[in-house]
Amino acid sequence: MTEQNGGPKTSRRKFLTSALIAGGSAAAAPFARAASPDPAITEIQPWNQELGFGVDARPYGRPSDYEAHVVRRNVEWLTASTESSVNFTPLHELDGIITPNGLCFERHHGGAAEIDPSKHRLMIHGLVEKPLVFTMEELMQFPRINRIYFLECAANSGMEWKGAQLNGCQFTHGMIHNVMYTGIPLKYLLEQAGVKPNGKWLLAEGADASGMTRSIPMFKALDDCMVAFKMNGEALRVEQGYPLRLIVPGWEGNMWIKWLRRLEVGDEPWHHREETSKYTDLMADGRARRFTWVMDAKSVITNPSPQAPIITGPGPVVLTGVAWSGHGKIKRVDVTLDGGKNWHKARLSGPSLSKSMHRFYFEFEWDGRPLLLQSRAIDETGYVQPTKDELRKIRGVNSIYHNNGIQTWYVNEQGIAENVEIS
Ligand code: MTE
Ligand code: CO
Repeated sequence: MTEQNGGPKTSRRKFLTSALIAGGSAAAAPFARAASPDPAITEIQPWNQELGFGVDARPYGRPSDYEAHVVRRNVEWLTASTESSVNFTPLHELDGIITPNGLCFERHHGGAAEIDPSKHRLMIHGLVEKPLVFTMEELMQFPRINRIYFLECAANSGMEWKGAQLNGCQFTHGMIHNVMYTGIPLKYLLEQAGVKPNGKWLLAEGADASGMTRSIPMFKALDDCMVAFKMNGEALRVEQGYPLRLIVPGWEGNMWIKWLRRLEVGDEPWHHREETSKYTDLMADGRARRFTWVMDAKSVITNPSPQAPIITGPGPVVLTGVAWSGHGKIKRVDVTLDGGKNWHKARLSGPSLSKSMHRFYFEFEWDGRPLLLQSRAIDETGYVQPTKDELRKIRGVNSIYHNNGIQTWYVNEQGIAENVEIS
């Protein structure tokens, strides 16, 4: 029915908006079903007759076995090895704004490091008055804060630059998660070390095999960066950088160094391979955009979508999705059912927080005719999420990074959805 591996489709259809007949009206009728004999009611089920499992059976809980399909997935042909690879958050299975820890996508350059926290240290040195080394216990003595932020890899939707590729929002948009972090404002630690006046940059380094480093400007480090040790209330998962990771709100995921062990203060950015070649965006004219740190406003409809078709036929449909912006809050999300001829204001539900995911809904009555679904996010700066073609006009198709263009799903009469582009 749906593709589970997001395999490449050679010929995703291109759609002419004018060829589409409007497929829905905006008022959803309340759901009701006439009573009829139903074995789920008339027969006694096993779980109603036998004792359930005891409180000692699952000391660390897990989802119902019936939810076993709700997992992170990788795309095998995308990378040569799973240690330097990525898997994707199953956005089409989630609701609300928080990504459960076990479903947060993973992106590692040298595999996930399993660190003994008693042997982990955080060192701060370079252009500081007093170089410092912290144990995990010492870090627990600092005042801590809780913040909910999205992390989006700059390569999210990167496969889609040249045209519709992967069939499912898990694969087109799943390099994102939204988590509540508990940690220490980085400012507190830097203040204790005493940054010298010429300390304008920070090099953050991970303790994993890739020893990943990124340069972060001091203004950001002193603004809202955090050193976090908890996610959604519990210790960071190994995959997310246990026991310590850097939080760089609103900025590309690559800067959020996991397994954080070293912060070096310098007077200019460090030039290394990651930054000078990979993390720049190549534009249409061959020039490169450098230091594109902030993730611009973006959104995607998660249901219906290729992995989540309409299975109930014509009638009420709950359309939902997520929107986010590295520049602040999401002010509004518009959705269209007909490829942009008519836009409707979606309903935002759940906390509206700066640099966090927002959840939107649009309930409509489906008449069973084909749909071209799109969502468009507008953030509090007034920035409007662009179409893919608008982006390509400025940036060309040579980029991998920072594709925040509007996504289109084509839904046919059977309710099956497909990744397409319209022109
Ligand atoms: N930090 C270290 N030490 N090693 C890494 O490979 N990958 C980076 C960043 N931090 C990486 C890292 C990239 S490219 C991204 S997108 C995010 O971590 C992914 O975070 P996640 O695995 O929690 O999704
Ligand atoms: Co990344």
